[in-house]
Amino acid sequence: GSSDALVFFGATGDLAYKQIFPALFGLVRDEDLSTPIIGVAKAGWGLDQLKKRAADSVKAHGGDINSDAFKKLLSQLRYVDGDYADPKVFTELRKQLGDAKRPLHYLAIPPALFSEVASQLAKSGCSENARLVVEKPFGRDRKSADDLSQILDEYFSEKDIFRIDHYLGKEPVQNILYTRFANSIFEPLWNRNHVRSIQITMAENFGVQDRGAFYDEAGAIRDVLQNHMLQILASLTMDPPTGQEYEAIRDRKASLLKSVRPLSLNDVVRGQYEGYEQVPGVHPGSTVETYAAARLAIDSWRWEGVPIYIRTGKCLPVSIAEAVVQFKRPPRETFGEINSVGCGHMRFRIQPDVTIALGTRVKVPGDRMIGDDVELILTRQPGADKPPYQRLLGDAMNGISDLFTREDIVDAEWRIVNGVLGNVTPVYRYKPGSWGPDEAEQLVGADGRWLNPKPA
Ligand code: BG6
Repeated sequence: GSSDALVFFGATGDLAYKQIFPALFGLVRDEDLSTPIIGVAKAGWGLDQLKKRAADSVKAHGGDINSDAFKKLLSQLRYVDGDYADPKVFTELRKQLGDAKRPLHYLAIPPALFSEVASQLAKSGCSENARLVVEKPFGRDRKSADDLSQILDEYFSEKDIFRIDHYLGKEPVQNILYTRFANSIFEPLWNRNHVRSIQITMAENFGVQDRGAFYDEAGAIRDVLQNHMLQILASLTMDPPTGQEYEAIRDRKASLLKSVRPLSLNDVVRGQYEGYEQVPGVHPGSTVETYAAARLAIDSWRWEGVPIYIRTGKCLPVSIAEAVVQFKRPPRETFGEINSVGCGHMRFRIQPDVTIALGTRVKVPGDRMIGDDVELILTRQPGADKPPYQRLLGDAMNGISDLFTREDIVDAEWRIVNGVLGNVTPVYRYKPGSWGPDEAEQLVGADGRWLNPKPA
């Protein structure tokens, strides 16, 4: 059944402001969410301050705070203030939950506090029959992620734990799976016989902004490559799900990620943009990467020998996320176009616009047999519709888990990057506004070049 109360810890924090209030507003407005919504934080605040914060957040994200929906949201809002180590906070929370039978607890707090909050929830009876939503980072490496899982497993069963990777809540990421498996024409091509290489780029044209202290503990590999990028890769390369169970999709993703070969040192190029060291919160002399490129291999019958290139970075020329599956060239160069790069591709742009396109070569009108690369646009949308957090919170309230990541998936992702975390490879400087360090070109070398996505 659906959850009948939504509790969020970290109610006065950054994530609540940036994502949770707008998502709650969307849920009340579009999806009739009408359960009590209880914020918990240690800020010395009262309910009125939380309501004010909700208004600021919703307004800043384009919502109408004079609407009936917003008034309704305020009427559902409750607030519990205090230290998470204090049992009184949880007695009060238990009271606020009233006769709720299936509460959902969202831990929008640093993972260091998970253990305390989870055990207090259990002692106070708040965790009985409850769902739990948690946010990345799920640990710092394979070992600490495993420790974290054990803590959560002590108090909640895996089917009630919802781990957010917000890329899974993005419409165009879901569309990769949909397009692949709602058609039969792509699947015969989707393997080592027809695919020459795969590239995934997640570029951002801004720096680490006000997140210096957080980011300097993480770096690009932990921050987005280990999670968002590997999720995109899994959607692009997994086997077709079998059966109708929700777990069917996650099972296939898990087995794909378990077959990705762990990265070794010469599969990775790290970069840091000039000026990063001056960001407040960043350690002087920091060797944390703001750019990472990697060459991956999948050890399976389907993908044996197909190189996969993924890269992500801050301060790149554009903000675009895109995946391209490049097909093999024809076995013979019939028309003598020796250097033509085009060999056919399928392109999935995830943001800012949403595009799915099939690239082929087509003859240019004229006497000579010369072609051009053209794309058949299967869909082009200005942007994704529902914000990922709205989708994900709504699903969690209803106990629908296929858009959440799973303990074994998180572990498989850490397994891939575990050997290249930290300062074990050189970090090269790059100019803000460039496509990262030149050294990354050598990764692709034999198989072509990086495909730098351009704005639509
Ligand atoms: C977050 C990372 O998980 O994802 C950020 O911590 C990154 O560093 C962000 O900017 C990107 O998400 P989106 O949805 O803006 O592409």
